[in-house]
Amino acid sequence: MSDILRRGRLSSTPDEDMINFTSSMSADKWIFEADVLVDMAHTVMLHEQGIIKEKDCSKILSGLLKIREEGIEELDHSYEDIHISLESRLIDIVGEDTGGRMHSGRSRNDEVATCIRIRLRDELLSLTEELSELRKALLVRASENTETLMPGFTHLQHAQPTTFAHHLVAHSDAIGRDTERIIDAFSRVNKCPLGSAAFASTGFNLDRERTRSLLGFDDLLGNSMDAVSTRDFLIESASAMANIMINLSKMAEEIIIWSSSEFSFVELDDMYASTSSIMPQKKNPDSAELVRGKTGTVIGSLMALLSLCKGLPLSYNRDLQEATPNMWRAVETTRGAVRITKGMIATMKVNTESMAEKSVLGFTTATELADTLVRTAGIPFRTAHQIVGVLARGNGKPILAEIDAVASSVLGESLSSRGLTEVMVKEALDPVLNINKRNITGGPAPDEIRRAIKIRLEELEGMQATIEGLNNGIENSMKVLFGVVESYAGKDA
Ligand code: ARG
Repeated sequence: MSDILRRGRLSSTPDEDMINFTSSMSADKWIFEADVLVDMAHTVMLHEQGIIKEKDCSKILSGLLKIREEGIEELDHSYEDIHISLESRLIDIVGEDTGGRMHSGRSRNDEVATCIRIRLRDELLSLTEELSELRKALLVRASENTETLMPGFTHLQHAQPTTFAHHLVAHSDAIGRDTERIIDAFSRVNKCPLGSAAFASTGFNLDRERTRSLLGFDDLLGNSMDAVSTRDFLIESASAMANIMINLSKMAEEIIIWSSSEFSFVELDDMYASTSSIMPQKKNPDSAELVRGKTGTVIGSLMALLSLCKGLPLSYNRDLQEATPNMWRAVETTRGAVRITKGMIATMKVNTESMAEKSVLGFTTATELADTLVRTAGIPFRTAHQIVGVLARGNGKPILAEIDAVASSVLGESLSSRGLTEVMVKEALDPVLNINKRNITGGPAPDEIRRAIKIRLEELEGMQATIEGLNNGIENSMKVLFGVVESYAGKDA
């Protein structure tokens, strides 16, 4: 059969090079299923509005069910996109007098925009589920390590003692915000452009509300020109994904550092490690390195989306076809990275002794000692900071006599004369007591972090209920859609 798209206006056919350059077929595998849904909902509505006859509607719908079953492989891949290829297959099956009526009141412009939104919303919801799994793994490992001492760092220098739980909850909170951003993006992705046609809507009396509801969208895009042209929903989704990857790459970087011999805080499960082709002893954290590396891929996708939308005139321009592969690359990479990070976190071995041992290296208790001088001897913090700073030039384990000597030279009096005792100094230098004291909201004290974990696990349940609600909304619409489709298709049998 001749090319249903080009046969009227164009006389020459594109050669292979031109087809490869212009076709979106390879990326369109992402929207094959969505395109069938869009065709179905549009066909049902066309009939309900009296635009096509019931017998045509029934034949088209049974043809679409057959195409859905055959899968994308059966389609002719020499067409420029999935929409034309699918319509052409339908015409093969039911004939042009029937199949040729499906595209009434529609353009590929509103069609493709609807398909992308359908696939993307499913991907966003799956991603939020995976993010929640990761968050849960972080919180579970945190709850196992509420008393596991570790050095906290600033500038990658030993700073203050903390616990491994405190550190893991920090990452979990970042992932919590990432999840919220994806849910927020979902609310703008799940809007329906269908019925906008090329950009100026159509003179057919379409019921946009009906297709919106059959396809499980929460709302319509109100302006038909905006509806076909905008890809801001891709930009914001990719941006939220780039943010996720940046958070994951920070975790990955720490896993890489922590599994080095110098740190030896954690050991990855063998499943997540690789070895060397020459150095038989090597166990390398390749999965974490790839999470870090793939962050560049997602940032790249976001940059591509931003650059190709910049300066585009309204309304549809073919440039937009280049947007979607970038989105799918970001989706695939981000979802994979979230799952692998979850696996690494859930299975890694935590070296509690090594962490505890290193928690006091580099005089990490200096801040608490300075605070103790303030609280017990009543001196200003800045003066205490100076005294402890001088003491830090030593071995990091000052005794009362040394403190008094430095205080006398700085202040002109000893601190024991102001009530400081050897016990107070010892307590200030004890990392466990340091942590126990940090029990205000957000601190690492075991009781406080246990409280924090509990709240977050509850929040996670709330989040899972939200995701379930969104999934159910879509599933219910699909049930309605397929119910209607099957009842019409049955009439064709
Ligand atoms: N493959 C196209 C895309 O992804 C579909 C829309 C084509 N529209 C057009 N006016 N050429 O954007």
